[in-house]
Amino acid sequence: MKSLFAALFMFLVASLCLCVRITADSQNPLFNVMNYGAKGDGQSDDSKAFLKVWQDVCGATKGSPILLIPNGKTFLLQPIAFKGACKSATINVQLQGDLVAPQRVNAWKWQDNGRDTWIEFSDISGLVVNGGGKIDGQGASWWKCCSESPTALYFHNCQNLQLSNLTHINSPKNHISINSCSSSHISNLHIFAPEDSPNTDGIDISASSNIIIENLEMKTGDDCIAINTESSFINITDVACGPGHGISIGSLGENGEYAKVEEIHVRNCSFTGTQNGVRIKTWEGGSGYARKITFEDIHLITAKNPVIIDQHYNPRNAARNSTVKVSEITYRRVHGTSAVENAIKLDCGNSIGCTNIVLEDINITSSVPGKNTYASCNNAHGRSSLSTPNISCLYN
Ligand SMILES: *[C@@H]1O[C@H](CO)[C@@H](O)[C@H](O)[C@H]1NC(C)=O
Ligand SMILES: *[C@@H]1O[C@H](CO)[C@@H](O)[C@H](O)[C@H]1NC(C)=O
Ligand SMILES: *[C@@H]1O[C@H](CO)[C@@H](O)[C@H](O)[C@H]1NC(C)=O
Ligand SMILES: *[C@@H]1O[C@H](CO)[C@@H](O)[C@H](O)[C@H]1NC(C)=O
Ligand SMILES: *[C@@H]1O[C@H](CO)[C@@H](O)[C@H](O)[C@H]1NC(C)=O
Ligand SMILES: *[C@@H]1O[C@H](CO)[C@@H](O)[C@H](O)[C@H]1NC(C)=O
Repeated sequence: MKSLFAALFMFLVASLCLCVRITADSQNPLFNVMNYGAKGDGQSDDSKAFLKVWQDVCGATKGSPILLIPNGKTFLLQPIAFKGACKSATINVQLQGDLVAPQRVNAWKWQDNGRDTWIEFSDISGLVVNGGGKIDGQGASWWKCCSESPTALYFHNCQNLQLSNLTHINSPKNHISINSCSSSHISNLHIFAPEDSPNTDGIDISASSNIIIENLEMKTGDDCIAINTESSFINITDVACGPGHGISIGSLGENGEYAKVEEIHVRNCSFTGTQNGVRIKTWEGGSGYARKITFEDIHLITAKNPVIIDQHYNPRNAARNSTVKVSEITYRRVHGTSAVENAIKLDCGNSIGCTNIVLEDINITSSVPGKNTYASCNNAHGRSSLSTPNISCLYN
């Protein structure tokens, strides 16, 4: 009888655990933020509870600790930083519920502590963030007023970061910034902000290498993905971008920066109604290089500037004496429709120009019936084959 009750009890416990989809075992201790005083009502400031639970999660010495942010609740967080180094080799932040930023009217604290980030994770190895939850930056309260808006989610010095299965909406500025995080995997994210919301990049990467980005749905007011300096070996596949400003390398070389970007591979990405498709953008006066970059299987639906290299970016009239060297850039199987006639624009620096630019199997037609598309070049060197429009301007 006793053992029957015990079995029944175990069964109940097991089904309860299944319901929450999280099993805490001795291997992986579970820390539920609700047990640390979080309200999850979307009104109360839950920052203290999050910092408290983080201390225990980060300090846990056994297994892979799990920080559970439960489903069905909304947690209001002031600007907050989750810092390492942590004791265990991996940490799972199970974000099943929603995180919401304060409205800007209540945001004096942002300036107060000099942060330009809402949620920051830094110096953590083996961080896994997933769980199907939503991160809402409440950007509308910033977009109309402010030049210094915060990034919603910022990862700094997080090796082996895994970020997946989340929805990010309405960031004041960039939705996600990744800086100095190598060997990371970013997948299955939905990132949404209105087409006219300023500077709401989807994902910005800098100073990072060996990053896989795949399976993203992005509709934003600025770049879907931007790759900045000191970045290499980044593969971006299966991204649906648009509205937005496309996938950008750069801008590189601002304020005379020595930029280094190489081995970036973009494949099977679509651009629907975007301001740009695949873009390489460098400031006049910069130096360094962007090289070994491929764009393959690119699908365009009424995209403006589908293929663009812009080495004359200079809104602030910077020094014009140098340029970032752009070379070994391949565009292969770029198909679809352009909303502008100048579908391919290779506008390279006056001094060294771009070299080894290869375009193969390109077919970009106009989205406007009866219009043609054309390619333009300035100091671009390389070759093309099977291209509509003709790229006769490319020097061999
Ligand atoms: C996303 O997270 C939810 C909630 O934890 C889970 O049910 C679902 O299976 C996850 N999806 C993927 C693709 O991992
Ligand atoms: C990245 O893409 C390149 C070019 O397609 C490929 O050779 C390389 O194996 C890919 N790397 C990873 C880690 O998938
Ligand atoms: C290309 O990416 C889309 C998502 O944008 C995906 O649905 C599709 O399966 C991918 N195609 C291939 C051949 O991988
Ligand atoms: C270009 O001009 C800037 C500002 O005058 C100067 O700082 C920089 O050293 C120059 N660079 C080169 C490569 O001459
Ligand atoms: C280019 O695309 C257009 C529109 O889809 C199509 O009609 C045309 O046959 C394609 N041209 C080539 C050479 O594939
Ligand atoms: C493109 O170039 C080829 C070969 O020079 C020529 O036969 C063809 O008519 C050109 N097409 C257009 C649209 O200019």
